[in-house]
Amino acid sequence: ADKYIELNNSERMPAIGLGTWRGDESGLLAQTIKTAVGLGYRHIDCAKIYGNQVEIGKALTEVDVPRKDLYIVSKIYENRHRPELVAGALDDILNELQLEYLDLLLMHWPHALKPEVTTMSFDSSDIDNVPIMDTWRAMEDLVSTGKVRSIGVSNFNQAILEKMIPQCRIVPAVNQIEIHPYNQAKELVKFCKTSGIAVTGYCPLGGTRVNVMNDDFIKHVAEAHVGTPAQVALSWALARGIAVIPKSTNELRLKQNLHQVTLTSDEMRMIGKIEKQERKVDPAREHKELEWVFHEDKMVCPVI
Ligand code: A2P
Repeated sequence: ADKYIELNNSERMPAIGLGTWRGDESGLLAQTIKTAVGLGYRHIDCAKIYGNQVEIGKALTEVDVPRKDLYIVSKIYENRHRPELVAGALDDILNELQLEYLDLLLMHWPHALKPEVTTMSFDSSDIDNVPIMDTWRAMEDLVSTGKVRSIGVSNFNQAILEKMIPQCRIVPAVNQIEIHPYNQAKELVKFCKTSGIAVTGYCPLGGTRVNVMNDDFIKHVAEAHVGTPAQVALSWALARGIAVIPKSTNELRLKQNLHQVTLTSDEMRMIGKIEKQERKVDPAREHKELEWVFHEDKMVCPVI
């Protein structure tokens, strides 16, 4: 629980965070946050669109840890990409979480949606044409307000980052992307590292759709270390210098996920080979127009 990832602005981010997407039924998430903080979690990964920041904010007022020891991340939803809406989007997040500042604010996705869209599902006609750099410049302006310590992005591919970086006054501190042994993002992680961008892996256990924890080799390594498949998946990402944000509502699993096993270089190499490029999350499954978000080889980003 005491591992950190150094960011390019001399801030540091706890390497293990608690994911909060689908915090399930009301009440359960608040309890999970309190249990997790009690166990030693300090990094909490939130987002406006998860629809549960009010509950998280309330739970955070009830934990026994000073604000400065917590690391709170949230994400601007795609319907607030127009530059004139960005500062208000941060204020809204701070208000919901009952916080004075965020440690890290991310642009949740590179694509924009029209301001009136408020749900996770949307129509193709809801896609907005806001250049990424317009949103990013508005995010850069937030840093000097003191309301956010670091800014970053999520679900950004290498092609977009390559175009973006030379135009940035502040290079993103973090890129949060889907990472687990079945979607290892080797090239993108390498690119981010050489560009000074830290990587956070979401869905580090694969979750329900991607069955990493049932992988025979992962299970074999887990047995060899008297650990669990989840510990192997998390330890593998952490050993690559990637932050992880697993979620669990179960106290035993929350605890387990804070404790790593030490993988051998052979095991790291072998896990490197079970890549399947199998994503849990891909907006292009529903919206062909968004193929450029992940399938950069097929399409050029239309908005930068
Ligand atoms: P549960 O809340 O019952 O523990 P991800 O963060 O990759 O999306 O995965 C989250 C899913 O993995 C949740 O369904 C969670 O269920 C489950 N999970 C979390 N930690 C563990 C663990 N240590 N072992 C098995 N399943 C886990």
